[in-house]
Amino acid sequence: MNNFTEEQYKYIEKIKTITSEYQTIPKCCIVTFGCQMNAKDSEKLLGILLSCGYEETDDEEIADIVIFNTCTVRENANQRLYGRIGQLKNSAMKNKNKIIGICGCMMQEEDEVLNIKKKYPYVKIIFGTYNIHALAEILYKALTTKEKVYEVLKEPIAIVEDLPIENKFKFKCGINIMYGCNNFCSYCIVPYVRGRERSRNEEDILNEIKFHVKNGVKEIMLLGQNVNSYGNDKNDENINFVNLLKKVVKVEELKRVRFMTSHPKDFSYELIEVIKENDKICKHIHLPIQSGSNDILKSMNRKYTREEYLELVEKIKNNIEDVSITTDIIVGYPNETERDFEDTIDIIKKVEFDSVFTFKYSKRTGTKAAEMAGQVDDSVVTDRFNRLLEVVNEVVGSKSKKYINKIVEVLVEDIEREKDMLVSRTGNNYLVYFKSNKYKIGDFAKVKIVKSHGFYFTGEEV
Ligand code: 5AD
Ligand code: SF4
Repeated sequence: MNNFTEEQYKYIEKIKTITSEYQTIPKCCIVTFGCQMNAKDSEKLLGILLSCGYEETDDEEIADIVIFNTCTVRENANQRLYGRIGQLKNSAMKNKNKIIGICGCMMQEEDEVLNIKKKYPYVKIIFGTYNIHALAEILYKALTTKEKVYEVLKEPIAIVEDLPIENKFKFKCGINIMYGCNNFCSYCIVPYVRGRERSRNEEDILNEIKFHVKNGVKEIMLLGQNVNSYGNDKNDENINFVNLLKKVVKVEELKRVRFMTSHPKDFSYELIEVIKENDKICKHIHLPIQSGSNDILKSMNRKYTREEYLELVEKIKNNIEDVSITTDIIVGYPNETERDFEDTIDIIKKVEFDSVFTFKYSKRTGTKAAEMAGQVDDSVVTDRFNRLLEVVNEVVGSKSKKYINKIVEVLVEDIEREKDMLVSRTGNNYLVYFKSNKYKIGDFAKVKIVKSHGFYFTGEEV
């Protein structure tokens, strides 16, 4: 345990003494926006608060502390945050001891912090992506001084290990393998709010995985903005993503390994081989293409062409049986012409993606694309977006039909009470609903796929 971690445990103890004197157990609520990275950060925040003597609630109104873990990758996430904080004004006014906090990516943007200070003075704590781990220290200051605590670090401190963590699911969890991004895609704000790439030590990653597996986790997802760059900052060529995967699959009792996100420019043949050769590695690759037009890809600074992407997909499909490939698409990037858009539609049809996450381009202050002339008109973007969705539904729907009558292994994740069905997931990331009295959440089951509903299947237990 390093000094920083020790220090935080001291603050946790101090808060525990405070909360133990409350008449009722205080309640905490964490609201998460954005990606898996944020979801993982929220598990860390919850772990700290539970250790401080709080219990969890999902009711923002009654919680003694509410923390919003924010995303800023697109403008609509920001708007949703402001709506939610606005709704809490009354309960903040009624309960002067209530602590409303905001953290995460949006707080790395000075303008947003200024806006919150001005318009939402009842927000008591603000911190950024680089001091998530210091929640106990920040909260202690807020509880003892009754002052507002706004602490947004501009640069990351060392990677902090060994703090408490509370998994949302008992049977699966995400594992950070690296933080930050060096790619600077022209539209993307992530490198500005999450900093440069920092890889965790292999030993720390493996220890964390073993810890969770001991507590019942069967499936992990290795998380990084660009997992293929794992180890590039380490000065040791043996530390890389392929070698890490080889070690992770050796963890006994761990049944499934996923990873996210892969950048097409760094996806090596060695990686394809490791996926192919290891049963534990799920046959699902999320490979954001963003656009099918070479001009747009160049302007986006993605560093691959549509031809290279197609070649990579061919290699993956030829080597890995029943692999599913999913992607992200942005429509309406500056200067996107109808011709560029058609190239995107064309590549979706050619690749036959298993799922596509579609986004309207969102202008992010500070990025290169935000300064470009040729921003595309809203009505054009909406029109293209709707046409894109139609094609995606068609392609995804027809692709999924090939699984009908196949028997697949699924991990049960949830119960859909209205339909009285279990919700489960295949290794290649398809959702399967099925009825069963035998299986429960966290179990593996064999299911025969009966019907495709486009984005999910219904099946029968075998
Ligand atoms: N506008 C729209 N979509 C964006 N993404 C990232 N930045 C933007 C933006 N400015 C999308 C990309 C990325 C996903 C996580 O979010 O498709 O892969
Ligand atoms: Fe953003 Fe590109 Fe980095 Fe992904 S790889 S986080 S899109 S800059």
